Amino acid sequence: MGRGHLSLEPEQIVRLEDDAVVLLDQRLLPDTVEDVRCATAGALADAIRAMVVRGAPAIGVAAAYGIALASTQGADLDEADRVLRASRPTAVNLAWALDAMRDDPTPEHARRIHADEVERCRRMAAHTAGLLASGTRALTHCNAGGLATGGYGSAVGALLAAFERGLLDHVWVDETRPLLQGARLTAWELETAGIPHAVIADSAAASLMAAGEVDCVITGADRIAANGDTANKIGTYSLAVNARHHGLPLYIVAPSTTVDLATPDGDAIPIEERDASEVTPRFAARNPAFDVTPAELIAAIVTEHGVHRAPYAESLAGLVAA
Ligand code: MRU
Repeated sequence: MGRGHLSLEPEQIVRLEDDAVVLLDQRLLPDTVEDVRCATAGALADAIRAMVVRGAPAIGVAAAYGIALASTQGADLDEADRVLRASRPTAVNLAWALDAMRDDPTPEHARRIHADEVERCRRMAAHTAGLLASGTRALTHCNAGGLATGGYGSAVGALLAAFERGLLDHVWVDETRPLLQGARLTAWELETAGIPHAVIADSAAASLMAAGEVDCVITGADRIAANGDTANKIGTYSLAVNARHHGLPLYIVAPSTTVDLATPDGDAIPIEERDASEVTPRFAARNPAFDVTPAELIAAIVTEHGVHRAPYAESLAGLVAA
């Protein structure tokens, strides 16, 4: 695969067939490339909960296909909506896609939602690359690549675009405990694209910043409140605090479908608590899957519309999917 390209086409990540929504099983990557077929909206909801497919926009795209499948099967669409909506609480793209499918639950509409998300990624990636200087060493967290968006990627898409422009020297990849989306998925995507990178333990980020080896932090988002407070994978908040301490910008790259103007601030964002056994099978544990980074720690939020700066209540106001 060539420089700056991912190995996966959007339809390899998530697609609708006549009798099923087909998902690339992200739990098994990168060692095993295998599909999971979901023959009902209920089975798809289980797969989303189990993180066969994950990443805010990809969850929304999958849910849109789930409604289209239910519609072609003559199934109860309200029930399909209900089970899908309840599958994961934090990423607002899920509710956005389900709301969007209400008026037109057809396969064509779901495929258009998918194609639009990929196109949004390309646009916000180009906007983000415009923020970076030559020789950038970026640090990213979790996976906000094509796997997480159904193609191209948000934060990883921005890294691809910067690399293609010759601006990106290196990417530090947080391993992203406990499910290792960074060490398994982002590292695999960067390797495929030929982008120099190194996986680090999450706890190594601050000392690399202190050593002057990081120029900026770039992540995706699961939900951005109206005031700019941003929920993303657990650990993003610590990165934001550390980035501020070291004078480094944190850029959040996310489509307008991740912006939730109905949620006033971070306190109102529901945070998913996952099974403690993902952290340790042996001892008592807590497993919040996301945290909220206060808007004041974010240098810019980049959507397909462009670069939004503080005060976000003004710069995000009226944002709609484009
Ligand atoms: O629990 P996950 O793997 O679904 O969490 C994903 C993230 O936190 C991503 O950073 C976010 O969804 C942005 S994806 C473009």
